[in-house]
Amino acid sequence: MKAVGLMEHGGPEVLEIVDVDEVTAGPGQIRIRNYAAAVNPTDVVARDGTRAKLQSQFPPPYVPGMDAAGIVDQVGDGVTTGIEVGDRVMAMVVPKAQHGAYREQLVLNQHAVVPAPANTTHQQASTLPMNALTARLSLDLLALSPGQVLAVTGGPGAYGGYVIELAKIAGLIVIADAAETDRALLERLGADVIIARGDGFAERVRDHFPAGVDGLADGALLNDKAIPAVKDGGAFTAVRGFKGDPQREIRFTETWVTQYNKRYDLLDELRQHAEQGALTLRVADTVSPERAGEAHRRLAAGGTRGRMVIDFS
Ligand SMILES: NC(=O)c1ccc[n+]([C@@H]2O[C@H](COP(=O)([O-])OP(=O)(O)OC[C@H]3O[C@@H](n4cnc5c(N)ncnc54)[C@H](OP(=O)(O)O)[C@@H]3O)[C@@H](O)[C@H]2O)c1
Repeated sequence: MKAVGLMEHGGPEVLEIVDVDEVTAGPGQIRIRNYAAAVNPTDVVARDGTRAKLQSQFPPPYVPGMDAAGIVDQVGDGVTTGIEVGDRVMAMVVPKAQHGAYREQLVLNQHAVVPAPANTTHQQASTLPMNALTARLSLDLLALSPGQVLAVTGGPGAYGGYVIELAKIAGLIVIADAAETDRALLERLGADVIIARGDGFAERVRDHFPAGVDGLADGALLNDKAIPAVKDGGAFTAVRGFKGDPQREIRFTETWVTQYNKRYDLLDELRQHAEQGALTLRVADTVSPERAGEAHRRLAAGGTRGRMVIDFS
């Protein structure tokens, strides 16, 4: 059965077609014929060796990928979510050894698999689960109230875009940074105030909100440079483990999406938002499994808007 994996860590060229064993849905599990896997920054980290120590407890090939969309072709005993064979679904995958989303066939816990948004392609649906769940978690950790102000860095990205849209659903005021070429995109996503990206981010935020913002979601990993944008006693959430030195009673949290693994309720709510048009599913381009390395190269180069998707149809 076809997958995209790596036998050793390295550059995008190490990604190759690998043959992995067929899998069967056990009790409480669902098997998906996977047609689309979105390519995320975390897949680049899984490929380049940053996580080599963690992965070394398993023999290669390692199969990356956290986002899948396809059709259910087997349902194990005791599945109670109502998902049936033939349903179009999407899921977040937490990769382990050969079990990543870059493969044709996947077995997942029933609570990780929800219906795909109506009237979307597999490719579009695959761009939703992991990044929208991450955005959901960031907002939950920031715990702001309607009318409060949220700053978002990296708003044009997959994570940042969902943060902006979910924040608007929650009634927050959003300020986000962008290059001039991304301004129209951020307006469409619903940002209320758009400032230029680059040095001086925090000062520009304070030009609009002199006391600072109530919360900040740091999708662009500005880390220390973004902290002065947050007001005393505000909240800051990081997405790559940045902790932030204690200061001005700011509440620092780390967003790790695995915390929302198997959260059928949350992913299904995100599905509904997408169906209502409140979340925008963005595909940058689609590549065949043989060209997965190209997708990694383009993502790592920066500037892609929307997700690269590997098409397993
Ligand atoms: N912890 C978790 O569970 C979790 C889950 C999901 C994502 N993440 C992390 O969240 C981050 C964002 O993910 P993503 O998928 O949204 O990535 P993405 O699609 O590549 O978006 C990142 C955005 O930030 C922009 N950016 C980069 N450097 C910048 C800077 N110095 N100033 C302003 N903007 C800048 C990028 O612009 P250019 O494209 O022009 O460079 C891009 O628009 C990644 O580091 C990812 O690993 C973590």
